[in-house]
Amino acid sequence: MDRLNECDGPIYMNPSDGKYSTSRDILFVARGAEAVVEIFSDIAVKTRIPKRYRLKEIDTRMRKNRTFTEARIMSEARRIGIPTPIIKDLSDYVIVMNRVHGRLLKDCITTELCERVGALVGLLHKGGMIHGDLTTSNMILSEDGRIYMIDFGLSFFDTEIESRGVDVHVLFQTLKSTHDGYEDLTEAFKKGYRPILDCADDVLNREREIEKRGRYL
Ligand SMILES: Nc1ncnc2c1ncn2[C@@H]1O[C@H](COP(=O)(O)OP(=O)(O)OP(=O)(O)O)[C@@H](O)[C@H]1O
Ligand SMILES: [Mg+2]
Repeated sequence: MDRLNECDGPIYMNPSDGKYSTSRDILFVARGAEAVVEIFSDIAVKTRIPKRYRLKEIDTRMRKNRTFTEARIMSEARRIGIPTPIIKDLSDYVIVMNRVHGRLLKDCITTELCERVGALVGLLHKGGMIHGDLTTSNMILSEDGRIYMIDFGLSFFDTEIESRGVDVHVLFQTLKSTHDGYEDLTEAFKKGYRPILDCADDVLNREREIEKRGRYL
């Protein structure tokens, strides 16, 4: 997608149909700590914004690295069967991807969905990837009933029990702080996670250790 600067704002060209749209077609904009996501009817454009508190060279390098890694891991996860948005275009700081129509998991979480999240995270870990920011705001229940993972900006390749344990711990912390029935949700997650990964119990035991460590900090 080309982003051309015109006087009345950016213009995007959707490579799938060659149609142009302007900033007026943006439905809404999600602003995170590191990125701005512009949501159009069928595409989402995620742009990593400069952080002034970082040295310019470091900031440029970090934004490029994170954009590249996010795109790479998003594609790799998709390749092994985890629903993630299809990437349409990529440049230094910008990922253009399919918009997933649906609801954030934080707004519709249930034990059934949590069990399916467990299986997806198990698959991701089995594939040698760590999400790095597993929260219910980074998963979308799409209209076709699939659970999509998004926001791979902090992801990396790793197979250590510790990294996997931290990944699961981040999700459990989110469930604890934002959802009722925390224990049922984590149990459901474990039920989905266990059959996928051989060393699942090691990861889940490590998660409990990490939780205990946190309590005494
Ligand atoms: N492909 C997509 N389809 C639909 N909505 C999306 C898509 N990508 C992002 N969003 C929406 O934008 C929000 C922010 O996106 P994302 O989580 O990727 O960015 P972020 O949290 O700002 O990023 P980071 O944590 O890397 O700084 C999501 O919670 C979701 O609501
Ligand atoms: Mg996010």
